[in-house]
Amino acid sequence: MPPPVRLYQRLYPEPAELSAADALAGARLRERAPTERPLVAVDMVTSLDGRATVDGRSKFLGSDADTEMLVELRTTADAVLVGPATVRAESYGDLAATEARRARRRAAGLAERPLAVLITRSGSIPWDAGLFAAPGQPVLIYSAVELAPPAGVAATVTVHRLDPTPAPVLAHLAAEHQVRVVLCEGGPRLLHSLLADGLVDEIFLTVVPAIVGDDSQPRIVSGEPFPGGPAERRLCWVLRAGGELFLRYG
Ligand SMILES: NC(=O)c1ccc[n+]([C@@H]2O[C@H](COP(=O)([O-])OP(=O)(O)OC[C@H]3O[C@@H](n4cnc5c(N)ncnc54)[C@H](OP(=O)(O)O)[C@@H]3O)[C@@H](O)[C@H]2O)c1
Repeated sequence: MPPPVRLYQRLYPEPAELSAADALAGARLRERAPTERPLVAVDMVTSLDGRATVDGRSKFLGSDADTEMLVELRTTADAVLVGPATVRAESYGDLAATEARRARRRAAGLAERPLAVLITRSGSIPWDAGLFAAPGQPVLIYSAVELAPPAGVAATVTVHRLDPTPAPVLAHLAAEHQVRVVLCEGGPRLLHSLLADGLVDEIFLTVVPAIVGDDSQPRIVSGEPFPGGPAERRLCWVLRAGGELFLRYG
């Protein structure tokens, strides 16, 4: 028997109970993609005191409801953009690990798995990460330097030599890989770069009811002050599952 569908309580705008899939269908991300580049949605998790990790990893922060929202966002995306340092720190693997997820993607007219997209200036790629051990997982690397995957990599890796900054990468993904929806999963430095260039359309932020209290842990965005000052966002929804809040800002 399939597991029961998890329901999130919507607190804003109108109160309702709905699944992550139904909530995201209502966000109509694909229909709202701009023409010249993909729509960029970001998914991050933060503690009450604004920390993005515990002991250097975000996986110790979120609950199953947070993971489910992330997996559901992956199910709707053509590509998952993630910083090399995040791939190094977190447990990345197959981005559509179950046949049920792949079947849902096929039924929606999407590739079986979202592309994993990494950008690097130094060419320092964590080849021993689980992402590269996943057979059938397509990985695109945009690199400033010449790169080749080492022997033993099971994922299907393509390397593009291109200016590895977000705008040309997004334009290339749209033009050459027909990508319309990108999910960026961080980390904080890559997210800063996307925000600084005005390339973030949607922010999905999970607030977990925990206080980390450790100055050595990063915040969800890390970098220099933005030239135009703090960037304001518009609140689109507030969902709740247990003690966690799921905020969506446009
Ligand atoms: N709370 C959350 O939701 C969440 C989400 C994701 C990650 N994290 C945590 O964040 C930490 C890693 O984040 P991070 O900020 O150190 O690294 P990151 O953003 O994952 O990766 C940064 C790397 O991306 C590459 N890069 C290429 N182009 C870039 C550009 N235009 N701007 C910025 N980076 C660019 C650089 O690699 P090269 O040096 O090769 O050029 C840079 O070192 C981990 O501890 C992870 O657990 C938390």
